[in-house]
Amino acid sequence: MQHDLIVIGGGPAGYVGAIRAAQLGLNVACVDKNAALGGTCLRVGCIPSKALLESSQHYHDAKHSFAAHGVEVEKLKLNLTAMLERKNQIVKKLTGGINSLLKHHKIKVYTGTGRIDGPGKVTVQGEKESETHTAKHILIASGSVPAKLQGVEFDGNRIGDSTTALSYSEVPAEMIVIGAGYIGLELGSVWSRLGAKVTVLEYLPRIMPGADTEMATLAQKIFEKQGIKFQLGAKVEKAAVDGARCSVKCEGTDPIQADRVLVATGRVPCTEGLGLESVGIKLDERGRIPVDMTTYATTAANVYAVGDCIGGAMLAHKASDEAVACVEKLVTGYGAVNYDVIPSVAYTHPELASVGKTEQQLQEANHAYRKGTFPFKANGRAITLGDDEGLVKVLSDEKTDRVLGVHILGPRAGDLIAEAGAAMAFGASSEDIARVCHAHPTLAEAVREASLAVAKRSLHV
Ligand code: NAI
Repeated sequence: MQHDLIVIGGGPAGYVGAIRAAQLGLNVACVDKNAALGGTCLRVGCIPSKALLESSQHYHDAKHSFAAHGVEVEKLKLNLTAMLERKNQIVKKLTGGINSLLKHHKIKVYTGTGRIDGPGKVTVQGEKESETHTAKHILIASGSVPAKLQGVEFDGNRIGDSTTALSYSEVPAEMIVIGAGYIGLELGSVWSRLGAKVTVLEYLPRIMPGADTEMATLAQKIFEKQGIKFQLGAKVEKAAVDGARCSVKCEGTDPIQADRVLVATGRVPCTEGLGLESVGIKLDERGRIPVDMTTYATTAANVYAVGDCIGGAMLAHKASDEAVACVEKLVTGYGAVNYDVIPSVAYTHPELASVGKTEQQLQEANHAYRKGTFPFKANGRAITLGDDEGLVKVLSDEKTDRVLGVHILGPRAGDLIAEAGAAMAFGASSEDIARVCHAHPTLAEAVREASLAVAKRSLHV
């Protein structure tokens, strides 16, 4: 079949790009190996992990904090099967929703592995047969897969990646997480709340690489209070299943044992089998598809790429925005992503959300800045929630007061960061945020107070 655009990949980059292209009048097809669209994010990433984070937090609260609210629970019991089933149902509902959206936009969905077969051609290898379709333009949105770690013997059960850790059949008594990035901390939190003794092994001397150091250090202290153990500067060199247990060995130390091991040491672009060579595309040294970051054009005419398979942060929302910008630019001539204001969120408890520069980045760039912070323990709403750990930090240019970065460790930080991103996108100063009336009592008042704190005029500390 002939299309204006064939999108390879039905994740947050691919399906969103397909919808936007259809809205702009293109005849679009979307190819995905999996009949359930939504990609890693929806099937085995962001969404199921958030479902489990929510459920496990309820269990944890019922056990540890309901009593302080005067709610006493007798015979609290964990039904892990029901918890996992709820997660599965949420995934089913949302993947089904995407299929309906594509149908609504008259986007043709091909289920199978998509491979470029020379200029303007995409072959879809289904379970039984393959068919070749033609398109004026091809958009690659093939995503990423968990990185393998040398010396670690994955058995896909006791030693596995994030996908495995979303469906353990029982709560492990002891769990080792390799890597203190977002995946390790989110899924480590889930199983810790459900009763596992979790040890996180991290190669670097800190957790959450890339996050503002002050916030990450504070977060680590809070996670430690929750019972998660950290071994920093621990380079895992070997891990193997040993009977019903697993053994993990770090450089220079004795092996340690656990019932389950989660390897969360990053993700790598998924570019194998895409037929890139048929149009002369060569990967960069990290296996990514090189593109012009303003048009997302690859080195091959009429072939574009967005999301995890190109450079930059591996984040669903960054991928979606690139896909929209790519097709808008293609069809209308306009379309761009403002990479300075892409938020990142770790959905731990408390959540850590950031947008813009960290303090370290400003220091390294010799950029003079002012800083305002406000603790959630001085925020009325956080206190009523019984969820008042963490703080908001606002960084602004010393001379102009233009906001350069905002970091929030606290309840619903992932939602609160949207205000900061919007303000920064419009070039706001910290005073601009501080002058906006914020509803009382809300968590968002902490963002305002931290903005006031930049000028040393917080009202509530
Ligand atoms: P990551 O790259 O964020 O963190 C991996 C960690 O593993 C690093 O701290 C690294 O130093 C450590 N490490 C690497 N090799 C090691 C070794 N041999 N021994 C001990 N530690 C080692 O990767 P992660 O957490 O797997 O996430 C992958 C991608 O997915 C990231 O880009 C992340 O931003 C994204 N993601 C985003 C989420 C969100 O937005 N909430 C949630 C989950 C993933």
